Order: sequence, then C-alpha cells, then structure tokens
Amino acid sequence: MAARPHANFAEMVEARPAISLHLHTPAHQGRTVEKRLMPAQLVSRDVRYFQRRDLVGFEARIATHYGTKRTLCLTSGTTTGCLAAVMALSRRHASVWVVRNCHKSIVNGMVLSGLKPRFIRPEGAVVTPEELDELFAGAGPDAPTAIIFTNPTFEGWGADLPRCVDVCRRHGLEIVVDESHGSHWPASPALPLSALNLDVDIVLHSLHKYAGALVQTALLHLPNSSRLNERDLARSLDLLETTTLSNLLMLSLEKAVDRLFDPATAGQIARLVDELTGVKRRQHNGDGLIRYHVPEGVATQDPLKFFLTTERAGADQLARWFYEAGVDNEFHDATGVLFIFSFFNTLADLKRFERACRQVKPLLLASPGFLPRAGTRMNQPEMVMTPREAHYAARERVEVDQAVGRTAAELVATCPPGWPLLIPGEKIGEWHRAVLGGDYLIDIVKL
Ligand SMILES: Cc1ncc(COP(=O)(O)O)c(C=O)c1O
Repeated sequence: MAARPHANFAEMVEARPAISLHLHTPAHQGRTVEKRLMPAQLVSRDVRYFQRRDLVGFEARIATHYGTKRTLCLTSGTTTGCLAAVMALSRRHASVWVVRNCHKSIVNGMVLSGLKPRFIRPEGAVVTPEELDELFAGAGPDAPTAIIFTNPTFEGWGADLPRCVDVCRRHGLEIVVDESHGSHWPASPALPLSALNLDVDIVLHSLHKYAGALVQTALLHLPNSSRLNERDLARSLDLLETTTLSNLLMLSLEKAVDRLFDPATAGQIARLVDELTGVKRRQHNGDGLIRYHVPEGVATQDPLKFFLTTERAGADQLARWFYEAGVDNEFHDATGVLFIFSFFNTLADLKRFERACRQVKPLLLASPGFLPRAGTRMNQPEMVMTPREAHYAARERVEVDQAVGRTAAELVATCPPGWPLLIPGEKIGEWHRAVLGGDYLIDIVKL
C-alpha cells in the first residue's frame, strides 16, 4: 500500500523512525537524548546557551584584536548597536547633532529614548571640519552636547574624520561613529584609518557587510578614549537584546574577527587594493565612458568600492548591462552604480569585473545618450516635534499630496542605503513630494 502523503512536516518525519529531527538551532539548551539508551548512556548533543555575562573572556579577546577598552559582540545587527548607543547618549545628553546620512536605526533610537536630534546636512557628500566649526560656533547655549557620524557612507566615501573629531572635542562633544561600512578597515593599512584610532566614544561595526560573518553579527566598541563605560551600554542592550544569544551567530562572529586579524589578511587586502587600482586605471575615466566617481570634498575613499557613473546612459541601464555581463551590483541610484569587493574576492573575480567593463563600453558607445536625472540631495529636516513625540502622537494616514505642511508621524527609508527620507517629527515639504511621490501613503500627526 502506498504511504499516505503527509501535509505536516513533523508528522512525516515521525512516520520514519530512523530519522531523528531536532527543530532547534544549537543554542537553546535543547538537550537531545537518545530515548532508546539507558539513563547512564544519555547523550547530550547540544551546547548550552550563554548570557552576556558569560562572554567576558571571549569579548576581552575580541577587544584585544581591536585595541579597545571594551567590545560588545552583538547578534541582532548593528541596528541594536545603534539603538543602544542612542539610548546610552540619551542618559547623558538632552540633544545630539546627527549628520544627515545616518541609518534609520539612529532615528529609531530617538523614538525609543526621547533624545532630540539636530540634523547636519553637509554641502557635499560628507561633512567637513570647517562646516562643523562654523555650525558649533553659531549654535548658542542650548546646543547639542554629542554628535553621531555615519562614516564612511554606503559608497565608501569618508570625511576627514581626524579633523572633524578634533573640532568636536574642542567643543566638548561626545562622539559616536557608525562605521558599519568600514568594518573591514582595521584589518589592513591599505584601507582608510578606522575611527577606532581616534579620540571617540563609541564605534559601531557590522560584520556581515564586508567581514564575511553571518547576517546580524555586529560589534559595539568602546575605544580606550571613550568617556562611556560598559554599564552605560549594558543597561541599554539589556532592553533590546534577546535573552538567548545565538551560539551559531557568535561562532560566526568569532571566525570572522579572527580571519580579519589573521596576519595573511592584511597582505591579501593590500594585493586586492593593488589589483583594483590597476582595473580602475585601465577601465575608468581614461576614455570617459565609465567614470569612477568620487564627489568633491570626499577626504577618504574605500578602495574596495567602485561607484561608477556614465554620461551615456542612465544608472539603471548601466547596472543592467553589467548584470548581463555577469556582474551584479550592491545598489544603484540616479547618479551611479555601486560595486563592492571584499577580501574574499579572487583574481578571477576581478578579471570577470574588468571583462564586464570592456563588454559594457561598446554598448555605451552605441547608446543614443540620455537626459541625466538629478540625484536626490538630502534635505535639511525641519523638526517641529521630537521623533518620540511624533511617534506617540495621534495619527492619520494620507497621501503625501495632502500632507505637505503637516508633521510626519512615521519614518520612511529605502534600504539600501537606509537613511531616512522622512523622519517622525519632521515638517513635510516639497522635497518629500519629489522623492516619495504625491500619492505615497504616510502617517502624519493628527491636528
Ligand atoms: C550605516 C548603517 N548603520 C547601521 C546599519 C544596520 O545594520 P544591520 O543591518 O546589521 O542591523 C546599516 C544597514 O545597512 C547601515 O547601513
């Protein structure tokens, strides 16, 4: 007789006693025992799960790699690190400067904590020390007393952070640097200087982005210069973290950090940077067809990131041609297409990328040209409420066309790159209509 088909997976497994199924990841004290054995022979196949307090020795070793006074290992993303950092700041400060390109989790941290943001929109792609100096000098007595940088940008563009930090410290600010997109920088002198080498208070790293660990692994560092201590952060993390840290993610994090600081890795990165410099020299800017774009004012550039533009086609078309030539991108916007390399890439990968550049060029030459779309420059948010006040206010849902002049009650961001297009507490204006579209539905604060 044919076996009855099972609609239920667990039932199907039960029907085959030779297979034993463990529906848990190795983290939750899921003691797996062979029922057929005598008690003395019970076999435990699982590892226990650990609390943060159990990680002291392990985290101390990770901190030694980075040369920090404390590094906290996170298994629920840099998002948790950003939330915890903002919450820790909120215990010490009433308001904080935020460079406009922050990740949405920074603003969400303000919803949770009530901290008041004052946004800084740089003239160029990154903020300059001169802009900061001018801003702080004219800020008045109720000026914010801390600042949050997101450096580098998703595209790998960095500010002159050492000089920015000097300016901030001169004005007595505490400093957080979200270095998610430079998490690999401490691994090699061929990469830009990490904020960990500067006089700052918190640095955040995302290990799944370029360090090869599983998604959700991240680090929150307190550099030796930090004015905060572990307790300041632990209190916030306790509100945000799961009580069951994932062993799987911790193991992946450990492997990735050890590999990042393996003596061979620095050499590997230096060789990769060297090869990529050659690709850039041979393929980009020379004939003007594909340009390796670095906006004016950018002080440091991650050599593993290629933001390519062309005047011969739209960025979406450029991305499509590269894809058809076998190379996928990280993202593209109205200006260009971002390609990312990591120390896991082989010489063969670089050859494939260079071949794709060569394949795309004749298509660009044959292209009839196009009308470039204006890129979306970030706006200067006009805050009429704090993000927390707006989040908890009575709200209604309307199209952006009906919302101009009103106050946003929700955050809107597209990921990547993840910076907020609309911020709770912000007055909605024409800029929002242009970037979201007039018929986009949003929550606004009810009058
Ligand atoms: C600058 C920045 N910070 C924080 C995050 C959040 O990281 P995660 O996805 O690890 O939570 C991101 C995500 O892309 C980011 O781009």
